[in-house]
Amino acid sequence: MSKTISVGLLGMGTVGSGVLKIMASNCSNIEQKIGGSVKIKKVLVRNPQKARGVTTDAEIVTDIASIVNDPEVQIIVEVMGGELPAKDYILQALNAGKHVVTANKDVVAKYGRELFAAAEANRVDLLFEASVGGGIPIIRPLKQCLAANRIHEVMGIVNGTTNYMLTKMSKERLEFDEVLAEAQAKGYAEADPTADVGGFDAARKIAILASIAFNTRVTLDDVYIEGITGISLQDIDYATELGYVVKLLAIAKEDQYGVNVRVHPAFIAASHPLAAVNDVFNAIYVKGDAVGEAMFYGRGAGEMPTASAVTADIIDVARDIRHGVSSRILCTCYEDKAITSVDKTESPYYLRLLVEDKPGVLAAIASAFGAQQVSLHSVIQKRKVGGFAEIVLITYRVSHANLKLAVKILEGMSVVSKVSSVIRVEAEEID
Ligand code: NAP
Ligand code: HSE
Repeated sequence: MSKTISVGLLGMGTVGSGVLKIMASNCSNIEQKIGGSVKIKKVLVRNPQKARGVTTDAEIVTDIASIVNDPEVQIIVEVMGGELPAKDYILQALNAGKHVVTANKDVVAKYGRELFAAAEANRVDLLFEASVGGGIPIIRPLKQCLAANRIHEVMGIVNGTTNYMLTKMSKERLEFDEVLAEAQAKGYAEADPTADVGGFDAARKIAILASIAFNTRVTLDDVYIEGITGISLQDIDYATELGYVVKLLAIAKEDQYGVNVRVHPAFIAASHPLAAVNDVFNAIYVKGDAVGEAMFYGRGAGEMPTASAVTADIIDVARDIRHGVSSRILCTCYEDKAITSVDKTESPYYLRLLVEDKPGVLAAIASAFGAQQVSLHSVIQKRKVGGFAEIVLITYRVSHANLKLAVKILEGMSVVSKVSSVIRVEAEEID
């Protein structure tokens, strides 16, 4: 057997601890797959005194230089999270000729171009399977297994925290804050959960997937984002009643204008395959010209699933090192496509309004919609709230721009007390 491959692990939180556990429990299996031994030599943390749920014989350090400058360390695994100093540490590692594995979508989505250029210049690997979909293989399938395809669409549930929350709200009728606290306690949520509930985490992930699927660099700024903070139990109940489920969707499609990339809550038919994706599970649905439809499903967050993807990347790099190859598959963004403005995107919409309960109100609302070329598929008067009538509308397919104008007009109408919710409906049957 050849010399042991040494790894420097940056971070020993949820994911880092999982990596240490897998490397310990599956050690001989992993070494046989690599054809040589691999060990975590050093671990970087912020606070070496902190009690940990895992033990290791690796050296615990607080200084990145002691890892980057260690000539024995060939692979650096970044599982610290956040943009900085993680991005700087990754760059230092690449420039020191170390292969890098990261789970950090913040860094990959924002600094991908710069980091891949550094990996290429230094002829080292840069792998990031865990950055999207936690334990689900999706980066490697898109880059390698589906490389023969022209991809038309990637659509998925890519944030475990919000899917867990929406599932709990729907099935157990729990309130938003309660279910968020549960997701945090389970280690699913980001350090700042605004990234999850605000849709930014999903946006970073779909930016990464869109860049790979459409071979053009898509960054966070290119993604239209709506989170789930406006979703109430009332909307979830109406969705159920109308035969839908509320999910936070991340969507990337190529259309006549360019690449259309967005994250928003949506009503999807209860019979849609994504409707059955519950709890912390994620699923990513891909349409390619040769493969047709493919769906990837699994745990999108959590200690062991995420560590599974990180450790697989370590194994892949170690195999490359053993075989004397590197930087085989780096940046695949060889095109420069336009981003479609969200105003041009079209879908049916669900709206919930509080209006005066008197004759002629529904007709006035229908004519306000009509003036913006918004046709109504269905209108249901539901219940009384504080003296007002609550009505639920589903529109036919309409552009985001026209829908926005219609909502603005509604908000200015004296008979409309409140536009409580506006949520897209992803349903091909409403045209
Ligand atoms: P975490 O539990 O907060 O752990 C972060 C670790 O990094 C801690 O050990 C912390 O040290 C260390 N660290 C942070 N900043 C540091 C600094 N400036 N210098 C030295 N050490 C530092 O985070 P996590 O949940 O494991 O997430 C890690 C990464 O994986 C993130 O990029 C996240 O987005 C990604 N990810 C997480 C999941 C998940 O389910 N958690 C899933 C997929 C991807 P101390 O322990 O001393 O504080
Ligand atoms: N906070 C993220 C989620 C972790 O809930 O999906 C996985 O990236």
